[in-house]
Amino acid sequence: MSIKYDEQNKLFHLKTSDTSYVLQVFKKGYLMHVYYGAAVADPCTDDLISYEPFSSFSPKPEQDDKSFSLDAIPREYPAYGNTDFRTPAFQIALENGTRITDLKYAKHNIYSGKPAIEGLPATYCEDGDKTDTLEIVLKDEIAGLSVVLYYSVLEDYNVITRSAKLMNDGKQELKLLSALSMSMDFYNDTEFELMHLHGSWARERQISRIPIGMSHHVVDSKRGASSHQQNPFMALLRKNTDEDQGEVYAFNLVYSGSFIGQVEASQYNSTRVSMGINSFDFGWVLNPSEVFHTPEVVMVYSKHGLNAMSNKFHRLYRERLCRGLYRDKQRPILINNWEATYFDFNEEKIESIAKAASELGIELFVLDDGWFGTRNSDESSLGDWYVNKKKLPGGLERLAQTVNQMDMSFGLWVEPEMISPDSELYRNHPDWCLQVPNRSQSEGRNQLVLDLSREDVCTYLVDVLSSVLSSAHITYVKWDMNRHMTEVGSLILPPERQSETAHRYMLGLYHVMETLVSKFSDILFESCSGGGGRFDPGMLYYMPQTWTSDNTDAISRLYIQYGTSLVYPPVTMGSHVSDVPNHQVGRTTSLKTRAITAMAGNFGYELDAGKLTEIEKDEIKEQIKLYKAIRPMVQFGDFYRLLNPFEGNRAAWMAVSKDQLECVVYYYRILKQPNLPAFRLKLRGLNETVQYQLLTTDKVYYGDDLMHRGIAIPHYEHDFSAVLIRLKALE
Ligand code: DGJ
Repeated sequence: MSIKYDEQNKLFHLKTSDTSYVLQVFKKGYLMHVYYGAAVADPCTDDLISYEPFSSFSPKPEQDDKSFSLDAIPREYPAYGNTDFRTPAFQIALENGTRITDLKYAKHNIYSGKPAIEGLPATYCEDGDKTDTLEIVLKDEIAGLSVVLYYSVLEDYNVITRSAKLMNDGKQELKLLSALSMSMDFYNDTEFELMHLHGSWARERQISRIPIGMSHHVVDSKRGASSHQQNPFMALLRKNTDEDQGEVYAFNLVYSGSFIGQVEASQYNSTRVSMGINSFDFGWVLNPSEVFHTPEVVMVYSKHGLNAMSNKFHRLYRERLCRGLYRDKQRPILINNWEATYFDFNEEKIESIAKAASELGIELFVLDDGWFGTRNSDESSLGDWYVNKKKLPGGLERLAQTVNQMDMSFGLWVEPEMISPDSELYRNHPDWCLQVPNRSQSEGRNQLVLDLSREDVCTYLVDVLSSVLSSAHITYVKWDMNRHMTEVGSLILPPERQSETAHRYMLGLYHVMETLVSKFSDILFESCSGGGGRFDPGMLYYMPQTWTSDNTDAISRLYIQYGTSLVYPPVTMGSHVSDVPNHQVGRTTSLKTRAITAMAGNFGYELDAGKLTEIEKDEIKEQIKLYKAIRPMVQFGDFYRLLNPFEGNRAAWMAVSKDQLECVVYYYRILKQPNLPAFRLKLRGLNETVQYQLLTTDKVYYGDDLMHRGIAIPHYEHDFSAVLIRLKALE
């Protein structure tokens, strides 16, 4: 069992093979955080926490202990209102208008396995996994509130997850003003830097690292989506931490809506970390006997730097977050017509691209936006999910058959959550979008957001998508979402529940996705939100890959993919070769560099294959052969970052096969610099004693030589150049 309970000291010790998490039921039943970090033996119980807040400015909740203030205690899931002035994990308004609660330990339960969270995505365990769960029930008798804290220990994955369930056990109505998923305090420790992933459309997941100082930091989205702007990820790092060394405490929320992550250093040198649904514009009415379950936070500790942190996230997400047929299956190399045609295509054009693609060895053709309604631009038709017979006279069925005859499978783009004001659907159901009466409706990309907090809208979506997906032999779906929420309100919710709209939307969306991915379990789903605007673990639970960014420029992608790889595994990152000059940034890079960048993820093309020259076709055929050879390693091996483009003029990373007998190394020079000495790149993750042959040469290296002395990078670097190196163990 990975969870131990010491009855005498009321101490819980949660342990993975390299991590310990310790908490204790303290004075009068308050739950105290004792330790989180490298695995330790049980802590000495005579020396857990000493608290001496002498100041009257840290008031005392218990009159029989005048030295005890919650303000000075490291806590788990703190309530608001009695002596702890830091950010609470939740806040509740009672019927009398008061917002004070006080949670005390009531009971706990330890068991094997990990429960699912109803209606929400979460990591899971399978038979044979070493996974245990601790539930601690805290109560506020006056409010009639119980809070169940869930801690699951995925021992083999070296991960601990947390979530909370708030239950109204009383007789009065409770209104949740905030309900985060987790909160914990690092005791007497503020020596951290905060790392998070920020960005924008076409510039997702750039890395930011800042000292936390003695202040309060917020990483959040108020956009109704996890967003391009901030990813629901944050990590606390020691100053010396880099890719290979130093401590990292990482937190990632399994949720796709507005979120908040906070780091708050406080006067007694503690650091509070909390994460969950954003409390801004959130509220939830909890009637007697109702429950509210928060999303899950995945917590990863690494004492060996960021690569080790990423390895843990990658393995967990590949194996115990993603689900379905494609979880363990190699993903097809695809071609998508978006950048080749935008909205301007017909059957003949699509078939010509598909035909050229099939001759190159591409495995899947994806028909992007523009196939339905009268959609000839982004100004109409979202919601009208019937084929535009002017463009595709034979419908999807004939097109899919033609593509199948070319020995490729057929995939389709949809954007189900949206509605164009210029659509049949909107004319028939103007009440079906998010809106606030008497206010104008802001459009983004000429579209409005469907109100997925409504059951009728969700039912409609399941029905209409089911009929589209059954209308042809479709084996892949790209599920897009191209604007954020404004005028967040629902016409069917009563006034006191309007602030539930955004979370109800997420529950509706997850319900629709769950229904469709179960019903169409043979289909490979890829999520997308104007590129990588919803690249989060919530989406990966339903759809095992995500379009990383609309920016397909190879150089911009180095930064985007480097940042994304901190948390999300390469198999989840859609990355394609597109035309030049690049459509987003106008840069021209070689076909080779574009391919070597895209081959670090889930590979494909985004161009008009019919327009390629014979020389380009030959080069692409070789690229496809190469990717097929390295695919198992890239998609299911271990990934290591080697050189950080945010810190210099180069980037490098590598993938190593699970058995460590093979690896592929990617090296990129961003801008050439004159007169540089030869460069040796130090590899990672190899077996020190194995001899590796540099493919296509007869050079042989020991693993330790490659990792400690490094491998020489050929001298022919130029602006935007890339090199791909393969090494294989000698037979
Ligand atoms: C945004 C996506 O990210 C693009 O790849 C493309 O599918 C367009 N939407 C289509 O409108």
